[in-house]
Amino acid sequence: MKKLFIVANWKSNKATFEAKNWLDEFKINDLEIENKEIVICPSFNLLSLVSSEIRNQKLEVKIGAQDISPFDEGAYTGEINGKQIEEFADYVIIGHSERRQYCKEDNETLNRKVVMAIKYNLLPIFCVQNQNTPVPPNVKIVAYEPVSAIGTGNPDTPDNAEQVARTIRAINKEIISVLYGGSVTSENINSFTKMPNIDGVLVGTSSLDSMEFLKIINNA
Ligand code: PGA
Repeated sequence: MKKLFIVANWKSNKATFEAKNWLDEFKINDLEIENKEIVICPSFNLLSLVSSEIRNQKLEVKIGAQDISPFDEGAYTGEINGKQIEEFADYVIIGHSERRQYCKEDNETLNRKVVMAIKYNLLPIFCVQNQNTPVPPNVKIVAYEPVSAIGTGNPDTPDNAEQVARTIRAINKEIISVLYGGSVTSENINSFTKMPNIDGVLVGTSSLDSMEFLKIINNA
């Protein structure tokens, strides 16, 4: 049985009290989650809170950051570096299309981010927009997220996502897991995760509600 990644990308949402409420409602330990790796990716300011709540409530989930500095520690005002993230997280999302679009992140910057993630023992979840998006060396987990599907309620078809996932693997031999992202819900999750080349999902909007996210995990 393949291991499924179910990754919540909260994006730039939730103040501290909202994150705390979400975690209090998130009764993940009542679910059967064998072979499922659940990862929550909050904003940087919530990493410490989410990490201590997960420990206190003994929740079977991992933490991911949504971004990482392309620089190491030092005089880089406003940046959050790998060493700082490593204290709290196991994963880091790199190359999300929103960062490429709004923050003008280019391939060279993204390569440096991957190098920093690996230096600090963080597993990159590298987002690609199509099968031709370059993937830096040493990336093992890729998330295929077509821009037209993100936040639109208009997901890719499972057949097309499967075909893209297969092509991504054929082009990039190092990749072990390919996730799908873009308008995933508890209704459509299984149509993606049942595909042989899709190893999980990256969930934005539908992860903001803890009950819906529990349903997604249950239906995956
Ligand atoms: P969405 O976002 O689930 O809201 O479409 C997915 C993502 O951007 O990772």
